[in-house]
Amino acid sequence: MKPVNIGLLGLGTVGGGTAAVLQNNAAEISRRLGRNLRISAVCDLSAEKAKEICPDAAFVKNPLDLVAREDVDIVVELFGGTGIAKEAVLAALQNGKHVVTANKKLLAEYGNEIFPLAEEKNAVVQFEAAVAGGIPIIKALREGLAANNIKSIAGIINGTSNFILTEMREKGSAFADVLKEAQALGYAEADPTFDIEGHDAGHKITLMSALAFGTPVNFQACYLEGISKLDSRDIKYAEELGYRIKLLGITRKTAKGIELRVHPTLIPESRLLANVNGVMNAVRVNADMVGETLYYGAGAGALPTASAVVADIIDISRLIDADTAHRVPHLAFQPAHVEAQTILPMDEITSSYYLRVQAEDKPGTLGKIAGVLAQNNVSIEALIQKGVIDKTTAEIVILTHSTVEKNIKASIAAIEALDCVETPITMIRMESLHD
Ligand code: HSE
Repeated sequence: MKPVNIGLLGLGTVGGGTAAVLQNNAAEISRRLGRNLRISAVCDLSAEKAKEICPDAAFVKNPLDLVAREDVDIVVELFGGTGIAKEAVLAALQNGKHVVTANKKLLAEYGNEIFPLAEEKNAVVQFEAAVAGGIPIIKALREGLAANNIKSIAGIINGTSNFILTEMREKGSAFADVLKEAQALGYAEADPTFDIEGHDAGHKITLMSALAFGTPVNFQACYLEGISKLDSRDIKYAEELGYRIKLLGITRKTAKGIELRVHPTLIPESRLLANVNGVMNAVRVNADMVGETLYYGAGAGALPTASAVVADIIDISRLIDADTAHRVPHLAFQPAHVEAQTILPMDEITSSYYLRVQAEDKPGTLGKIAGVLAQNNVSIEALIQKGVIDKTTAEIVILTHSTVEKNIKASIAAIEALDCVETPITMIRMESLHD
């Protein structure tokens, strides 16, 4: 059989890794696929780099020319971002080319434009590398778990944030110092705000939520809270109480609607997710028939991410000549059954909470705080005075049982209004990960 021709857009970390995987594992890939994969054309800012990495491919300066070439069957978009990457992907689809991309931002923000165009043009868009790097979580959600009603997903899906939280906990390092280290190690995105403020994780959980529940992508509705404001005291207190703080992307189907959120979260240290450290990623999926499954691996890096890119290229190559009606749908459900569903505002989500309050160390203070929580229907799981900060001020940590977020917000506002309490109160959400 004739080889499948690939047009590669971008030779950065993942592009270079993709060329390396295709070259290093060419024989094994051909054993699996029954035909060869060949990079026929490449586009990068540097012609020298292109010649060095892909000596046999045509160098094409303009991405829009590459996506129109006769000798390109699959366009692999590894530019990132939503500028020329979006233009090139849309043009590739208009030309009827199949697309593989690692671009989570592009799909989470413009998927509702890209997937319908692909369907109209009988083209396939695959994006395994967009979520959790080398972990085949898209395949699992779209195919492996297809017999289930998925109930919830919770994932450590930003390696940079997980690395920072791990270093802060294990070494007591300051946030700013570890961020610099993460940048030096090449974990962080070009603009680290995307990592530390939750945008990157938000893009990834948005894509997983759409695949899990058969909805259009809705990044605008995703609640984002990163780790930049976390105090190392809270990491320490959480640990003393038997919890770890992780940046989680969470999506859950409830009777009222879908929860879609990213924020620092206390999780019991006995849970597997609590023990995912450093730059590693892990995703827990809870589904009605199979129960709990967990996917762990490298969420970034040249070769792990390229492993996912090449798996997508292989998938498309297998079905390139097949009947389009029997393809796996882009968002796991048949397009006619992808339905918008309510994404719950944060006030309506349900969670447990960690509160740290600084208050006057005098009789009656605890009673007043506990009274406010009771008035707002918030039940206390544990309450400890962590010590006296100075002669008159104590630090109190409260863990609550599960409640609706608006109740905790009302409680915080009322507690902050007490004369005996200093503002602001620190609030971190807590998940048992049982549902
Ligand atoms: N910057 C991302 C991370 C890399 O830290 O996980 C892959 O999306």
